[in-house]
Amino acid sequence: MDSREHFLIQNIGAARFNSPIDLSTIRGDTIFNFVRDGDKVIFDNSLKAYTECLNEERLPLALEKAGPRERIFFNPSETKVAIVTCGGLCPGINNVIRSLVMGLHYFYGVRQIVGIQYGYEGLNPEYGHQFIPLTPLSVRDIHITGGTILGSSRGAQEVSLMVDNLQRHQIDILFAIGGDGTLKGARAISEEVDRRGLKIAIAGIPKTIDNDISLIDKSFGFETAFDVASPIIRDAHNEATGVYNGVAIVKLMGRDSGFIAASAALSMPMVNFVLIPEMNFKLHGEGGFLELLRKRLDEKHHAVIVVAEGAGQHLFKSGGESVKDASGNVKHQDIGRLLQDAIKDYFVAEAYPMTIKYIDPSYIIRSAPANASDSIFCSRLAHHAVHGAMAGKTNFVVGMRNYCFVHLPIARVIQERKKIDLEGDFWFAVLQSTGQPLVIS
Ligand code: F6P
Repeated sequence: MDSREHFLIQNIGAARFNSPIDLSTIRGDTIFNFVRDGDKVIFDNSLKAYTECLNEERLPLALEKAGPRERIFFNPSETKVAIVTCGGLCPGINNVIRSLVMGLHYFYGVRQIVGIQYGYEGLNPEYGHQFIPLTPLSVRDIHITGGTILGSSRGAQEVSLMVDNLQRHQIDILFAIGGDGTLKGARAISEEVDRRGLKIAIAGIPKTIDNDISLIDKSFGFETAFDVASPIIRDAHNEATGVYNGVAIVKLMGRDSGFIAASAALSMPMVNFVLIPEMNFKLHGEGGFLELLRKRLDEKHHAVIVVAEGAGQHLFKSGGESVKDASGNVKHQDIGRLLQDAIKDYFVAEAYPMTIKYIDPSYIIRSAPANASDSIFCSRLAHHAVHGAMAGKTNFVVGMRNYCFVHLPIARVIQERKKIDLEGDFWFAVLQSTGQPLVIS
């Protein structure tokens, strides 16, 4: 396969209807133009990639731009849409649901929209969860609260049962709001739909506070999560400076990627150490974390540590089967408590007077409503998902890449999880802000 085809977006059929949205095709008439499938943005905008393409006389890898199409596949008056929210909570889910419903109703005139309750469980009739009708009135105020009005669940369900159910309810479009596991499920549904020769479009909207979905700039909810974490760090700093040799540890979510911890620390630059899953660090001995902490207390008499939940897992005794959650993610051991105990033990053994405070805001950072920036992002993602799905795109996610809204094949975004590049400028910015060494070893 030509590498360019990796980003080709599947269509369930030729677009048969004119869009009911009255847009333009002419530049200069002050009216927004329909987006064409040929409107693409370059995947890798580095000069190196550009030069390689020139030398090899080929077109660069490009992504289809999201946006309203002039011709659409579904006839709005006959189209039935379902929305499902899966996985852990995340700020902005209700904003996305609201904008999907409003976009479908007001832009296209779609009148049959249902919400599937409790994630993919709601698609498995064995659970007995009912579909609930969604209207502009029923979703009008839902963006004000966090969580999801539809409920969520982790874990996969039998794909054939779910597709049977979509068929039984004559669903034409399924919007799946979720992270890696949800998108894997959406892809499996899409493949089963193909196998059966059905015309059901499957659109994913990438959600996770961990920001670990690859190829996209950010997932919705992530910004709010570290926004909520910021004042907690501010208060932790007050605790640390409020006593002589005060240490405050803040543990933040972030299973295998440390974006929340790193971003929250960057936003509150009084943080002195950030520990993330991507890094390997030594606790004891020369150059180890405890020695660095002691130096910090010697000099400044207080320290703030932000640790991501997935950091330092190498410090736990290995052995035995790892415990997994329903989504198949390894459940990590409590690095916050381990650090707290190790720090206490170290300073007691040194007869070094100090006080330690441990703060774990836990679920609070993800059950909050979306902040203003995420609210805008959620609406824009949802509206783009509506345009893409109504045009008949399927097995795709909407996302932002290099500040441009694009369609990406689900298969590509679930290939790997996004992690902080320890050699990248984002992590370097964190190190410059905290002043911690480049490596703790
Ligand atoms: O959604 C991602 C996340 O918030 C991770 O940061 C965290 O490890 C996980 O969810 C915890 O979720 P739950 O306890 O609901 O399984």
